Amino acid sequence: MAQATRRPQLELSLLLLVLLLGTAHEVHSLEGKKALSLRNSLWDQLTSTPNCFSQKSIQKNGATILEIVHQAHCSGKTVNWNQKQQKRLILDDARVRTLQHHIKNANSNDIKDVAKTQLPLTSGVHLQTLNYIVTMELGGRNMSVILDTGSDLTWVQCQPCTVCYSQQDPLFNPSASPSYKSILCNSSTCQSLEYATGNSGVCRPRTPICNYFVSYGDGSYTRGELGVEHLNLGATPLDNFVFGCGRNNKGLFGGASGLMGLGRSSLSMASQTSNLFGGVFSYCLPSAEVAESGSLAFGGDFSVYKNNTPISYTAMIPNPQLPTFYFLNLTGISVGGAAIQSLSFGKAGILIDSGTVISRLPPSMYRALKEAFLMKFTGYPPAPGFSILDTCFNLSAYQEVEIPTIDMHFDGDANLKADVNGIFYFAKTDASQVCLALASLTYEDEIGIIGNYQQKNQRVVYDTMGSKLGFAGETCSFV
Ligand SMILES: *[C@@H]1O[C@H](CO)[C@@H](O)[C@H](O)[C@H]1NC(C)=O
Ligand SMILES: *[C@@H]1O[C@H](CO)[C@@H](O)[C@H](O)[C@H]1NC(C)=O
Ligand SMILES: *[C@@H]1O[C@H](CO)[C@@H](O)[C@H](O)[C@H]1NC(C)=O
Ligand SMILES: *[C@@H]1O[C@H](CO)[C@@H](O)[C@H](O)[C@H]1NC(C)=O
Repeated sequence: MAQATRRPQLELSLLLLVLLLGTAHEVHSLEGKKALSLRNSLWDQLTSTPNCFSQKSIQKNGATILEIVHQAHCSGKTVNWNQKQQKRLILDDARVRTLQHHIKNANSNDIKDVAKTQLPLTSGVHLQTLNYIVTMELGGRNMSVILDTGSDLTWVQCQPCTVCYSQQDPLFNPSASPSYKSILCNSSTCQSLEYATGNSGVCRPRTPICNYFVSYGDGSYTRGELGVEHLNLGATPLDNFVFGCGRNNKGLFGGASGLMGLGRSSLSMASQTSNLFGGVFSYCLPSAEVAESGSLAFGGDFSVYKNNTPISYTAMIPNPQLPTFYFLNLTGISVGGAAIQSLSFGKAGILIDSGTVISRLPPSMYRALKEAFLMKFTGYPPAPGFSILDTCFNLSAYQEVEIPTIDMHFDGDANLKADVNGIFYFAKTDASQVCLALASLTYEDEIGIIGNYQQKNQRVVYDTMGSKLGFAGETCSFV
């Protein structure tokens, strides 16, 4: 229906995406190879502090578009690059292990166990893998929130707060907002919490208010009451938006006010805005060097995208036990333009997650990919492994290297062609330890994950009602 593309004025706050690891840029491409320039000047950007909490939003082709900012640029602190990279991978590993526990327990059909599956919390750990920040207006206040396709509940820190991390925006104060209402324990919304968060709503004696708890697997969590409030995504209003009013929150969250949950279940942003946007959202996570802005778009017509680049779609694999997550059917991987032969693919599919940094593959698949990569990336001095990454090189003597392309193929002819910035991870700024940015899972029966590193410079379209997901290469920019 052509009319469906004319939606009300939907403007989302935009996101400035400043990519943390934009060390490389694509110079030109040959068949099966991409040239990567290794320059040091980019590292200067790492200590710059743009105003990452300024909000932009536009409306275009029926979509409401928010600018994305990378939280690494919001701290304004000079950090030890190598340590930061190391810590990031440790947290990434914790997230992946928690995801695997969830999946394993869900598949064993014991829903009760899903709720209890948490790794031991590590103190002092902050949520740093969810790098991308957008701004929304909740109860008449602008709130910068981290976006996460691996969870459903949107939440912000709330007054009065028992434990809150420091944030840039003032805390949300529900008692100062006439449009705020608490959700009661006996409501169906409270009952849907278990499905959406893995933890059922908690009701305390003497108050009928529904309390929630969400844990993110790297030690970060939020706890508080469930409420409804008036939400504006850009100029598009939405009444009775269900969110978490967080009173006990742990994690740094990049100074953001909370998190926007973009998972699949009924409480997620996509589900709650489905009558406005048809359950469609998309993002482009840019590399700092190519562009400093990315975008999160709600709605819009994605049968074709910019410059007539077709979006290639693949069906989402339903998994009733894991309603939050997006599973895809990975059918092949090519390295340097040639398909890796005799890979075996599990029935469960591969998970796509904006909050995991490095993609993970089952051990046999990872080994085959690594071998294929090493066959085509020869003659470079090796370097020691770095955290979860075991294939590293000392490239400090080179100005530019040609790296084999990595393409993932999905059922239905969809392809994700990893951007040149998503293939190597720079442990050191002088390029003396540059690692293949993919990692092996521990066990063959664990579920592969497509992380945000390999999603850079792609338009990734989530059509939650059509139950399909699409990719198209795009050089991210906000406008
Ligand atoms: C939120 O930010 C936008 C853009 O900076 C601004 O136009 C709008 O007035 C702000 N809203 C509030 C409630 O401050
Ligand atoms: C829920 O409980 C409140 C009082 O605590 C009551 O007024 C309301 O009718 C109940 N709703 C349902 C659906 O049972
Ligand atoms: C990396 O290579 C450079 C140039 O070949 C060399 O000088 C340096 O010592 C090497 N660094 C490490 C950590 O091996
Ligand atoms: C994945 O795709 C392959 C090839 O099209 C197909 O044979 C298989 O049944 C699909 N698996 C699932 C779980 O949809």
